[in-house]
Amino acid sequence: MARLDVTETFHHISFPGHIHTQDSLNYALHFQFQDRDTVIATYPKSGTTWMQEVVTLVKNRGDPQLSKTVPNWARAPWLEQHYCAKGSKAKVIYVARNPKDVVVSYYHFHKMAKFLPEPNSFDEFLDGFLEGTVSYGSWFDHVKGWTSQAGVLAHFLYISYEEMWLDLRGSIERISSFLQCPLVGKELTSALRHCSFSSMSDNAMVNYTLIPQEIMDHSKGKFMRKGKIGDWRNTFTEEQIGCFDTVYSCQMQDCPLTFLWECP
Ligand code: A3P
Repeated sequence: MARLDVTETFHHISFPGHIHTQDSLNYALHFQFQDRDTVIATYPKSGTTWMQEVVTLVKNRGDPQLSKTVPNWARAPWLEQHYCAKGSKAKVIYVARNPKDVVVSYYHFHKMAKFLPEPNSFDEFLDGFLEGTVSYGSWFDHVKGWTSQAGVLAHFLYISYEEMWLDLRGSIERISSFLQCPLVGKELTSALRHCSFSSMSDNAMVNYTLIPQEIMDHSKGKFMRKGKIGDWRNTFTEEQIGCFDTVYSCQMQDCPLTFLWECP
């Protein structure tokens, strides 16, 4: 059987070759957005699927019919991380998550996703993450690049996974008002219920259980794994925390934003 974990390099960033080709990446790079489009941009494992669900529910005024019958990838097609709106008024929602939780989630995802390189130890994976050599490139470049658009792009919403986790109702209100589709009463309650971790874990249209075993080995873990904040503490050693914090301070020193996960 053909190997699924081949790598495609594009603009010095590694991508899983099983799902991306030079043609598809070029397509994403030159895609022309329409003003009515909504773009969800994230580094992997930062809440992409969660935001796809929130946006679906907001645009359908809390009605879960679409989110229960159409797989998330058909509702929100993947164009990958390059955004070339070139003057378009398309709305962009950027979600970022504590990179320590991202790297733990990403490590577990590499174990089940056959199109990503099989990881060895967490320590080795962490090195690759900090160096930016993992698939989809450097978390630091991604977050700094995208958040620098806050206040520059007219139709740009930055929200963190932590903010959604701590206040999902308030986050949906913020997102729905950004999308000019404010939800009221039962619409909001319904949206809230259907994008909770437990609802999404049970929804085959969004929990990736529809993906065949050869592509995602469901015996190795669940896509909807834990859905927590701060769970990295159960994985990182003291030494890894020290190493991570040193690289983080150095890489993020030119970033003017203060992120929720940086607050004590
Ligand atoms: P964990 O592996 O830490 O559980 P992405 O969609 O960008 O790949 O992100 C996947 C991560 O988001 C997984 O994190 C997944 O459990 C989490 N997630 C998805 N839906 C969620 C929800 N409704 N509430 C909390 N976390 C959610």
